[in-house]
Amino acid sequence: MEQKELISKIHSLRKEKNAIIMAHYYQIPEIQDIADYIGDSLALAQEAERATADIIVVCGVNFMGETAKILNPHKKILIPDANAGCSLADSCPSEKFKKFIKKHPNHTVVTYVNTTAAVKALSDITVTSTNAKKIIESLPFAEKIIFGPDKNLGDYINSQTGRQMVLWDGACHVHEQFSLEKLLKLKNQFSDAQIIAHPECKKPVLMVANFIGSTQALLNYSAKSDAKQFLVATESGILHQMQKLSPQKEFIPVPPDDSTCACNECNFMRMNTLEKLYNCLRTEQPEILLNEEIIEKAVKPIKRMLKMS
Ligand code: 13P
Ligand code: SF4
Repeated sequence: MEQKELISKIHSLRKEKNAIIMAHYYQIPEIQDIADYIGDSLALAQEAERATADIIVVCGVNFMGETAKILNPHKKILIPDANAGCSLADSCPSEKFKKFIKKHPNHTVVTYVNTTAAVKALSDITVTSTNAKKIIESLPFAEKIIFGPDKNLGDYINSQTGRQMVLWDGACHVHEQFSLEKLLKLKNQFSDAQIIAHPECKKPVLMVANFIGSTQALLNYSAKSDAKQFLVATESGILHQMQKLSPQKEFIPVPPDDSTCACNECNFMRMNTLEKLYNCLRTEQPEILLNEEIIEKAVKPIKRMLKMS
């Protein structure tokens, strides 16, 4: 089917079924352009909480669909590709995390939303890269904290808040791949460019960044800054919105270490296509289904986060 026809069918189906399409900034441009709502992990969770549609299609990865389901257990939550996982969520299996918690008694368990529902069910509060610093700072300084699964984000929050959170050893394969060497070469070439980086990146990359922030924060910064060029160290899908908001500015994606792969593109996020989105609206599959007990436990840390955001 031609793209124009696919887009028109998606429009008709979403109207007919009272469905909304939410997309993360790392989705392919065609999906970002057709979405009713586009945002980072926090914004998508907030929008899912507010949603009144009968069906929510989450164009992102599995954990984002699960968060929408946890907040809307009676709604139909669909994702275009059930195989759209997340290396960061996978780096924290719930059984191992449970043992880790046991090894550190009397600790408050804070987890990044990039986790499975089962890990959220073990948590006291969830955070996203947008609100992690604010939420950690709202906890008493003496409180002992376990933070998982992203060690880079955890290490960055520790450095910003003076806390000594115990960190789970997990990471995102996309943000870990950025090459400092290639970034510095680019900086030599574009000496006026600002380096902007997501806190999931490794410390050496964060140390040379002019600005560090969540996907939404990077987008806002690039729009407000007087700089004309930006070296962007996060998943390159965000460049679509950056360029849309600031057509006169230049955005250069920071390359990964391994030049044989396009590792600054998340292969999981890129699994979703317009065709899969159309099929998912048509067949109402794949659907996110979660066990009630997990929902009951996992909703508490998410609600706590949303209240504090
Ligand atoms: P944010 O959407 O919180 O910036 O997280 C980035 C990410 O890696 C999502 O998978
Ligand atoms: Fe997971 Fe990283 Fe992909 Fe985000 S970019 S979905 S954290 S693998």
